[in-house]
Amino acid sequence: MTQSSPQDTQAHAPAQAGASFDATEFRKALGTFATGVTIITARAADGAPIGLTANSFNSVSLDPPLVLWSLANNAMSFDAFRAATHWAVHVLGSDQEDLSGRFARRGEDKFAGLEFDEGEGGVPLLRGCAARFECRTASQYQGGDHLIFIGEVLRFVRDEAAPLVFHGGKYAHATRRDPPDLKPRSAHLAGSFGEDFLGYLLGRSHFRFFAQIRPFLDHEGLDDMEFYVLSTLTLRPLLTEGQIAEGMAGVLDANRQRALDALVERGFAHRTSAGYELTGEGREAAIRLIAAAKAIESQVLERLGTGDAAILKTTLNRLLGVVDESAADVLWEPGGNGQKDDTRR
Ligand SMILES: Cc1cc2nc3c(=O)[nH]c(=O)nc-3n(C[C@H](O)[C@H](O)[C@H](O)COP(=O)(O)O)c2cc1C
Repeated sequence: MTQSSPQDTQAHAPAQAGASFDATEFRKALGTFATGVTIITARAADGAPIGLTANSFNSVSLDPPLVLWSLANNAMSFDAFRAATHWAVHVLGSDQEDLSGRFARRGEDKFAGLEFDEGEGGVPLLRGCAARFECRTASQYQGGDHLIFIGEVLRFVRDEAAPLVFHGGKYAHATRRDPPDLKPRSAHLAGSFGEDFLGYLLGRSHFRFFAQIRPFLDHEGLDDMEFYVLSTLTLRPLLTEGQIAEGMAGVLDANRQRALDALVERGFAHRTSAGYELTGEGREAAIRLIAAAKAIESQVLERLGTGDAAILKTTLNRLLGVVDESAADVLWEPGGNGQKDDTRR
C-alpha cells in the first residue's frame, strides 16, 4: 500500500532490509511525541540512592495498576536498577527543569545536598513533584538497547502542579486549550480589529492590570510615568541620563525628562554630575510600590494558574525579543554587559 505524505514531511526508511534508519532523523521523529518528564529513583544494593531522568514512562494497566519505563543498557545505574525490587517514578512539575538536568547527568552524585524521604523498599522519594508512584518491579523485558521495567504501583500521590513537558529535545510548558466559550469573538466588520488582535489583548491586559496598581501610586502622589522612571532608578545605584534613555528607549521618550524632574522636585531622586540616584525617601517609596505591585501580580497569576503564568511570562519575554531586540538588557543584566536573556530566543 502506498501512502501519500504532506509536502513538508520527509519519508525515511531503511534503504534495504537490515540497514538502519538515519539515527538523527529517527530521534527527531520520536521527539515529535511530547511527553512529561520523570525522575526514577531506587536504592543500589550497597544502599546508595540512585536515579535518572526518564521520559519513557507510561501507564500500562489500571487494574492491576501497572506502569512502565525503559532504561538504556549503557546507563551507569543499569545494574543497580535491574537488581532493585522497588523504584519510584516522580512526575516533574514545570518548575523542576533544574532537577531534571541534575538527574540526566551521567553517574554524578545526583542526591548531593538534596532533601528526600524514604518510601517502600527504602526508595528515595523526592519532594515537590506533580505526582509520584511507588512501585514494585513486576517484570523486565529486554527491548533492543533498553531494558523495559514494568512496575506494580503500591502507592501514589498527586499535586496540582503544572507538569514539565519534553518535546523536540527541549523542555516545554503544557497549557490547556481554551474551552470553546472562552474563544475570543472576532470582529466581522471589514476594517475593524478582532478581539484576538495582539495589540488589543496586550493593551487591554496592561490597562486593566495597571489600574490595580494605580491607587498605590496615587497614594504616593506619583503618576504612571514617574513610577516607571522611579522603578528604573532602582536597578542601579546611579544611572546616567544616557542609560536611562537607553533603558526606556521607545517606551517613554517624550515624558522621561519631565518625570525625572518631577522625582527630583519631589525629593525622590538626586541629580548629580554623574547622573541620577534615588534618595532614601525615593528608595523607600519604590520599595513600598514594588511590594504592592508584586502582591497584585501574585493575585493575578494565582488566578491564572501556575502553569499558564509561567507560559505567559516566557511567551511575553520572547515577544519582547521579537518586537524590541534592544529591550533594556543594558539595565536589567547584572553588570550590564548587554547580553540577552536566553528565554528571549
Ligand atoms: C528529558 C530526558 C529524558 C530521558 N529519558 C530517558 C529514558 O527514558 N531512559 C534512559 O535510559 N535515559 C533517559 N534519559 C537520559 C538519562 O537521564 C541520562 O543518560 C542519565 O545520565 C543516566 O544516568 P546514569 O548513567 O547515571 O544511570 C533522559 C534524559 C532526559 C534529559
